[in-house]
Amino acid sequence: MKGEDIFKYRKTVRQYLPDVVSDEDVEKILDAALAAPLAAGDDKTTHITVVKPGEIMEKIRAACQLTRKNGEKMDPLYGASTMFFVSSTDLSEDCIEFCNAGCVIENILLQATALDLGSTYIWGCLKKLKKNPEAVALLNIPEGYEIMSAAVVGYPAEPLSERVGDRERISHNIIK
Ligand SMILES: Cc1cc2nc3c(=O)[nH]c(=O)nc-3n(C[C@H](O)[C@H](O)[C@H](O)COP(=O)(O)O)c2cc1C
Repeated sequence: MKGEDIFKYRKTVRQYLPDVVSDEDVEKILDAALAAPLAAGDDKTTHITVVKPGEIMEKIRAACQLTRKNGEKMDPLYGASTMFFVSSTDLSEDCIEFCNAGCVIENILLQATALDLGSTYIWGCLKKLKKNPEAVALLNIPEGYEIMSAAVVGYPAEPLSERVGDRERISHNIIK
């Protein structure tokens, strides 16, 4: 997928197939993540962790697991088994690190789309994960860094389809 189609087809996937993303595609997505814009100097205080399918990924999934109001367990990673984390150190009062993380994650989501892969911004379950130091330690994030955001990528259960209705989606105005 090329050019503006990437924006038309990028969407949050919430059901993944068990098929594993190739190492080559993971490298392409990592390259995109590493090319993200960051606030001045923050390339020195930002860290990206890639978790490939395997035992550690399954332990992270277990640590992220949420329980619905009806008691049902749910996998907030939707079955995806490749995950990217963005972490930061030297956190600033203005929380610019979350803006940096958003840029890194968006590059991940868009590169995944370009490869016809599904992608999901992961935020909701990180609160639970961060309360589990044993699970966080599995990520081998450098000392002093805190997880800011995450994303999963994988083969979507349904092929990506073109977005509709974005013109009505976000309020906007145009000035001349
Ligand atoms: C900062 C941020 C956090 C998000 N966290 C989650 C999340 O934890 N789980 C999830 O399923 N989707 C998450 N999303 C995805 C949004 O729900 C999704 O982008 C939105 O519903 C619009 O759908 P679309 O991405 O298909 O356009 C997040 C998106 C953003 C930008």
